[in-house]
Amino acid sequence: MIDKAKLQIGENSYEFPLIEGTENEIAIDIKTLRSLSNGVITIDAGYKNTGACKSAITFLDGEKGILRYRGYSIEELAEKADFLEVAYLLIFGELPTKEELAQFHLDIKDKAIVDDDVRKIIDAFPKTAHPMGILSSLTSALTAFNPTSVNVDSKEEMYGAIVKIMGKFPVLVAWAMRKINGLPLNYGSNSLGYVENVMSMMFAKPNEEYTINPIVKDALNKLLILHADHEQNCSTSTVRIVGSSHAGLFASLSAGISALWGPLHGGANQAVLEMLEAIKADGGDTKKYMAKAKDKNDPFRLMGFGHRVYKNFDPRAKIIKVAADQVLNDLGINDPILDVAKALEQEALNDPYFVDRKLYPNVDFYSGIIYRAMGIPVEMFTVMFALGRLPGWIAQWREMRLGKEPIGRPRQIYTGETHRGFNNISQR
Ligand code: SDX
Repeated sequence: MIDKAKLQIGENSYEFPLIEGTENEIAIDIKTLRSLSNGVITIDAGYKNTGACKSAITFLDGEKGILRYRGYSIEELAEKADFLEVAYLLIFGELPTKEELAQFHLDIKDKAIVDDDVRKIIDAFPKTAHPMGILSSLTSALTAFNPTSVNVDSKEEMYGAIVKIMGKFPVLVAWAMRKINGLPLNYGSNSLGYVENVMSMMFAKPNEEYTINPIVKDALNKLLILHADHEQNCSTSTVRIVGSSHAGLFASLSAGISALWGPLHGGANQAVLEMLEAIKADGGDTKKYMAKAKDKNDPFRLMGFGHRVYKNFDPRAKIIKVAADQVLNDLGINDPILDVAKALEQEALNDPYFVDRKLYPNVDFYSGIIYRAMGIPVEMFTVMFALGRLPGWIAQWREMRLGKEPIGRPRQIYTGETHRGFNNISQR
């Protein structure tokens, strides 16, 4: 059993301990590298080979297409669990008993009122404001209404902050959507389940009784579970590094929302729908767009394809693809966009460029088709991703703070000018 790594730099050789995770992943612990080697560091653009932390929350194997939350497979959780149950599992590490889940939900409902002054902030946004910008701003603004910083060593205070954001975040999500739809801001009802309440807040019209469509509710429950965590992705790493400066939970989440907004990350689900619409408008010419995606001189990428970690099918994409078919069928919707998506997928799965680079559909490729079938505007798709990812971000922030992790501060290799004297403007 090898337990050390050897590094040779010139005449000098150095040894570093290996650490092994519970899934037999190996890492070289290089915390002594810079001091032992008189300043040598490693560099790894995009952190493709670099671990930022140890974590017990989510395990994924990109080669085998495996995803597990606290040891439970995503397939089982998506099939059998309720989103709030999965949120509890991710945050506290175990599936809740009936009583624990009921208490968790009660405590969340107790904190689900958002200070009415937040309405003034949302009113100040133009109707054209992107809801991800609204959500990030309002999440950060919650700090103004909940100013006391959380003593993370107090179980009660940590729990209090968690149920507060689990209660208020869905309200902010719903208000962002109602702003787009020109509907008055509202609340759902504490008599509803967590996911049902989100639906009621998002869709209920002021002049009619809102009835929950069970097909939509089940699909939304599944989508939120599938998005709930994904180990050290860009937005989660952002939440962890912002939190490592001991910035508060709400401020750290606001930063994570901004990171998720990018089209290479969570913003891809909106970009996928826009891409599929463009292809459909262009006569469904998938071959033309495949050529664009492969053309190095063309910035166009096949949105919803490829993944930093999955070099096999994203297990979430498989589940969402089946769900998309089911939801459209159950709702009696025949969405030609789904046909374009399937045609594009078939093309890509048989194209050497994509096969050689192991580019498969990811979580974002089909999710937008279901959101659209639910009547959710395309600019809200990434907001729905954030709603699902909230418990994962909370769990990761909590793990980082309870683990007393040091402030994140990467090194660099300087490639700028070497020292030079200042010359007065008259001499320049
Ligand atoms: C999410 O990390 C996570 O876990 C994220 C996420 C989560 O749950 O948090 O799973 C959610 O962000 C899913 C990904 C959503 N993004 C997209 O769908 C945007 C389109 N995909 C990409 O831009 C890209 O695939 C990334 C960003 C997802 C991954 O990029 P990498 O790992 O940095 O890979 P790369 O850019 O180095 O690409 C490797 C090669 C390149 O070609 P070569 O230089 O080798 O010739 O593959 C090509 C790329 O040009 N490539 C694509 C492509 N994705 C990669 N070519 C065309 N279309 C694409 N979509």
